Amino acid sequence: MTTDVTQLAAVRVERVREIATARRHLRGPLIPILHAVQEDLGHIDEVDVPVLADVLNLAVAEVHGVVTFYRDFRRAPAGRATVRICQAEACQAVGAEELGAHAKRRLGVGYGETTTDGAVTLDEVFCLGNCALGPAVQIGERLHGRVSPARFDALLAEVTR
Ligand code: FES
Repeated sequence: MTTDVTQLAAVRVERVREIATARRHLRGPLIPILHAVQEDLGHIDEVDVPVLADVLNLAVAEVHGVVTFYRDFRRAPAGRATVRICQAEACQAVGAEELGAHAKRRLGVGYGETTTDGAVTLDEVFCLGNCALGPAVQIGERLHGRVSPARFDALLAEVTR
């Protein structure tokens, strides 16, 4: 088991190094590299930080600071379903804040967190391009409009059953 974990970490570190090395010539490379790592590996793991610092010749604390500052970066694997609730102005005007509070209560997590059973990750986003049909929610790849708390519960039931 320990060997498996160690091997997995080694494979991950190798992949992170490849991703970072391929992009280190970019101007301001850290953010695009972090996005690329997250897209490829699902999240930014603790073990990634010293590798990125090494490739980019930055302090570990500097990389860690960026990862923790930007909400875009996930520091743990996402749940099986990702639920994103729009909190931009047009959606806020039609109840997105209340919907967000409902979702947090219902799932027992805050934004950027995953339920303990690993089923759902809840995120807030700022505009899903569906402003006329707020509150807008994206579940996985699917966009939903005019989502009331009751509709939210029904949509959630579909992805968690
Ligand atoms: S403001 Fe919510 S989708 Fe644009």
